[in-house]
Amino acid sequence: MNLGAFALCLALIWGVSGQYYDDYDFPLSIYGLSSPNCAPECNCPESYPSAMYCDQLKLKSVPMVPPGIKYLYLRNNQIDHIDDKAFENVTDLQWLILDHNLLENSKIKGRVFSKLKQLKKLHINYNNLTESVGPLPKSLEDLQLTNNKITKLGSFEGLVNLTFIHLQHNLLREDAISAAFRGLKSLEYLDLSFNQMSKLPSGLPVTLLTLYLDNNKINNIPDEYFKRFNGLQYLRLSHNELADGGIPGNSFNVSSLVELDLSYNKLKSIPTVNENLENYYLEVNELEKFEVKSFCKILGPLSYSKIKHLRLDGNRLTESSLPPDMYECLRVANEITVN
Ligand SMILES: *[C@@H]1O[C@H](CO)[C@@H](O)[C@H](O)[C@H]1NC(C)=O
Ligand SMILES: *[C@@H]1O[C@H](CO)[C@@H](O)[C@H](O)[C@H]1NC(C)=O
Ligand SMILES: *[C@@H]1O[C@H](CO)[C@@H](O)[C@H](O)[C@H]1NC(C)=O
Ligand SMILES: *[C@@H]1O[C@H](CO)[C@@H](O)[C@H](O)[C@H]1NC(C)=O
Repeated sequence: MNLGAFALCLALIWGVSGQYYDDYDFPLSIYGLSSPNCAPECNCPESYPSAMYCDQLKLKSVPMVPPGIKYLYLRNNQIDHIDDKAFENVTDLQWLILDHNLLENSKIKGRVFSKLKQLKKLHINYNNLTESVGPLPKSLEDLQLTNNKITKLGSFEGLVNLTFIHLQHNLLREDAISAAFRGLKSLEYLDLSFNQMSKLPSGLPVTLLTLYLDNNKINNIPDEYFKRFNGLQYLRLSHNELADGGIPGNSFNVSSLVELDLSYNKLKSIPTVNENLENYYLEVNELEKFEVKSFCKILGPLSYSKIKHLRLDGNRLTESSLPPDMYECLRVANEITVN
């Protein structure tokens, strides 16, 4: 029997005898026996001793973190402050996961994160932040600050390896975003969905591959806005306030785009897209006409749309209103949903 199974077995026996059944303080979690180099209240699996799990322990502050720990989980506690010295013995920490706590910006002391020179992942989702945290170490690759009340972003200057930023479910307006991401050279993934933007932010890095801006109040796309991002593949603008008038002709004719979501807006006609687009979501708009030229400017043996999935349901279109010649353009489509 391995140690994990042994611990689980013990847990079951104790569970059945009713002693520790609902007790989160139970010392042997299902992760297995804890290695000796661990905070007493937490768990460091013997099979993975550089990880320390302190989830759901009603902690009010960061526990003692012994040297050797690289991955620290502190989820679902009541941590409302972080002292300057909280991580003094683990300056080589790589992951710090603080989701579901009560952190506010004013109670995160000094340069507590920037001292962690190996930090790659910092997650502070579901807390009480009103601004982004910082300064941050240059090693950071993945920053998640979703489901806070963030209205303001600090500078991310010099974070050369920052690749993923999750900021969905906050209170950001476009002017708060404009300068913040300048100079990020590796940013590929940016999620700004469920915020308060009424315009597209300026100054987003051209390296983006994935950009989520759905569930804002965006009503207009500046001419050529998406042209700068020459590798952009996934773009979501669903649940905004886009109408035909706010979309200049070639806004979405971007040759790198693979997926475009414009569902739940107020469009009456289908915005022109590049022939390379594969998935196009237009459900729940006010579409009343389908024009082949939205997908194909010219038709020919090598000139056709690569669309595979097209959603048109929840509009004013019917099967019979679709032009019969559309399949000469949408040659490889395997799913077109109309109603
Ligand atoms: C760091 O280690 C020293 C020496 O073992 C200890 O006294 C101190 O409390 C530790 N600090 C933290 C924040 O765990
Ligand atoms: C933190 O956020 C929670 C949930 O949004 C809220 O109930 C609580 O009052 C907040 N606490 C502080 C100190 O702002
Ligand atoms: C950025 O990532 C590269 C490749 O993983 C690494 O060699 C480099 O040291 C990192 N830069 C910083 C500042 O951590
Ligand atoms: C998209 O733009 C290119 C030039 O960048 C053009 O050749 C092509 O016809 C346009 N596509 C459509 C469907 O208008």
